[in-house]
Amino acid sequence: MKAMVITKFGGPEVFSEVEMPDPHPGPGQVSINVTHSSVGLVDAFFRRGMIPMLQPPFVTGLEVAGTVRELGEGVTDFRIGESVVTLSLMSLGGYATVTIADALLTISLDGVIVDPAQAVAALPNAVTAYLALTQIAHLQKGESVLIHGAIGGLASMFPVVARSLGASRVVGTVRTAAKLDAARELAYDDVFVADDFPAVVGDERFNVVIDPVGGDILTASFGVMAPLGRALLVGNASEKEASIGSNMLWGKSIAVLGFSVGPYLQANPSAGRPAAKAVLKILAEGKLELPVTTLPLADVAEAHRRMDAKEVTGRIVLKS
Ligand SMILES: NC(=O)c1ccc[n+]([C@@H]2O[C@H](COP(=O)([O-])OP(=O)(O)OC[C@H]3O[C@@H](n4cnc5c(N)ncnc54)[C@H](OP(=O)(O)O)[C@@H]3O)[C@@H](O)[C@H]2O)c1
Repeated sequence: MKAMVITKFGGPEVFSEVEMPDPHPGPGQVSINVTHSSVGLVDAFFRRGMIPMLQPPFVTGLEVAGTVRELGEGVTDFRIGESVVTLSLMSLGGYATVTIADALLTISLDGVIVDPAQAVAALPNAVTAYLALTQIAHLQKGESVLIHGAIGGLASMFPVVARSLGASRVVGTVRTAAKLDAARELAYDDVFVADDFPAVVGDERFNVVIDPVGGDILTASFGVMAPLGRALLVGNASEKEASIGSNMLWGKSIAVLGFSVGPYLQANPSAGRPAAKAVLKILAEGKLELPVTTLPLADVAEAHRRMDAKEVTGRIVLKS
C-alpha cells in the first residue's frame, strides 16, 4: 500500500510517500481500501508534535471512507467490498490506500446515496456532535445553542444535529468576517464575528455553548450563559488555554465540560453505531453538506499548507 508518512515533527513538508506492506485486520477489526481520507486540524497537531501520542515515523488520518477489504476474526456484519466510513479512530493511519479500523467504529453506507467525500467530511464529526450534545451537554428540546468557530469541520456539524435534537435557536461565531457568508449557508439563525462577541448578543442567554476554539472566547462565553447552562469544550483551534474561575462556576450556576470522541469511543465502542444511525438519516437527507475541497492523497503537504495558512473553508478530503 501507499502511505503518506510523517517523517519528523514539523511543517507540511515532513510528509513522504512510502510503499509499505498491506496491513491485515486483527480480531474485531476490518481492513479498508481507502478512497477518501478527511483532513482535520488534529492532524496538523499530530504533525507538529503537539499531541505526544506517537513518535515519527507515523501515518496520521483519523477518518476514512472506502470499501471493506478483509474481515478480522469474529467480524460477521460486513461483506468484502461493502461501502463504509469510519468514525474517529485512535489508531490513525488514514492517509494511506489501506487502513485498519475497529469493526464497531465502522459504519456501513449500504443503501445510503451519498458522495463518499461528503460522507467522510461530515459523518464522523456529526457523530461527535451527536454524542457531545446527547451524552455530555444533555441538550433538551427548546434549548438554545451557541457555537464558536462556526464554519470549522467539527463545529459546522453542530447546528443541524442540534436542531434534530430539538434546539430552538442556534447562533455561531466566526473568527473573521471573510467566513460569514459560508457560515450563513449552514443552519445558524445568526452568525457573528468573534471580535464583536459577547457584546453583539446583547441580553440573549444560551443554554449550551460549544467551543472548539478555546482561550478567551470560552471565558467570554460564561457571561452569556443561562443559569444551569453547559459550556462544552471540544477543541483548541486557538492553541490557547482558557482560564476558568472555580468561584464563577458556582456563582453563575453553570458547568464547563469537555469531550473528546476518540477516547470516548475507545472506552464505549457500542455508543458509535446508534449515534451514526441517527446521523446517517440526516446525512441521507442532504442536510449535513459542508464545503469540501478534494485533493489527491499525494498532495497532502498542500492540504496541510492550506490548513496552516487558514485558507480552508469547510474541509479538505484526500482522494486515493
Ligand atoms: N472533541 C473532539 O472529539 C474533536 C473532534 C474533532 C476535532 N476536534 C478539535 O476541534 C478543533 C477544531 O478542529 P477542526 O478539524 O474542526 O478544525 P477546523 O476545520 O480548522 O476549524 C477550526 C475553526 O476554528 C476557527 N477559529 C476561531 N478562532 C480561532 C483562533 N483564534 N485560532 C484558530 N482558529 C480559530 C477557525 O476559523 P478560521 O476558519 O477563520 O481559521 C475554524 O473555523 C481542534 O482543536 C480539533 O483538535 C475535537
